[in-house]
Amino acid sequence: MKLLHIDASILGGNSVSRQLSAAAVERLRQTSPGIEVTYRDITSTPLAHLTGAHLAAAQGASPEALDVREDVAASQAVLDEFLAADIIVIGAPMYNFTIPSQLKAWIDRILVAGKTFKYTDKGVNGLAAGKRVIVTISRGGLYGADPPSAAGEHLETYLRWVFGFIGIHDPEIIVAEGTQISPEHREKAMAGALQAATSLRAA
Ligand SMILES: Cc1cc2nc3c(=O)[nH]c(=O)nc-3n(C[C@H](O)[C@H](O)[C@H](O)COP(=O)(O)O)c2cc1C
Repeated sequence: MKLLHIDASILGGNSVSRQLSAAAVERLRQTSPGIEVTYRDITSTPLAHLTGAHLAAAQGASPEALDVREDVAASQAVLDEFLAADIIVIGAPMYNFTIPSQLKAWIDRILVAGKTFKYTDKGVNGLAAGKRVIVTISRGGLYGADPPSAAGEHLETYLRWVFGFIGIHDPEIIVAEGTQISPEHREKAMAGALQAATSLRAA
């Protein structure tokens, strides 16, 4: 059993989503002692934005000639890690109503036609079905009940769409929200989310 653990918060040790993703991974380690964990911090080693040269290399042009050899290798490593994983745990904070740009750069490397999805005459076919995805989300405000705020939620909705697109229709989402409202609110939100992380079903 292989688990890929991704963190995307820029706030290091103070990060809410990092604490939650670590708790989720710990829970899965405890329930499956032999589990093999790969960790990728996409803020300390960020992936570059996609470029035309990168896409040309992916289409068969020489990466050396295009000077994107390292970038293509990084992309391949990220994709291989994702494809090899049975479980993916992602710590995902909300920045400006959506995912951090570092996480978008990672998604740009794993949504690859022919690898994680394909177009057919009946529409898109997700090729990553069967993987278990757990996302630990942190949001400063509240986006659940109030319709105007819910309309600004482009983190959870976006990730659900992305994973559904590649065939993973049932991501498990753990949310701590309202972390910036007050220390008390943050503490309560953390406690609830940690409880959910430590109650995850066994790996
Ligand atoms: C650059 C930045 C942008 C943010 N934008 C939003 C936002 O649009 N909506 C929101 O509810 N909270 C926003 N926040 C607050 C974070 O979502 C909140 O503090 C969350 O707990 C951060 O998770 P982390 O501690 O794992 O990084 C923002 C925080 C930062 C640092």
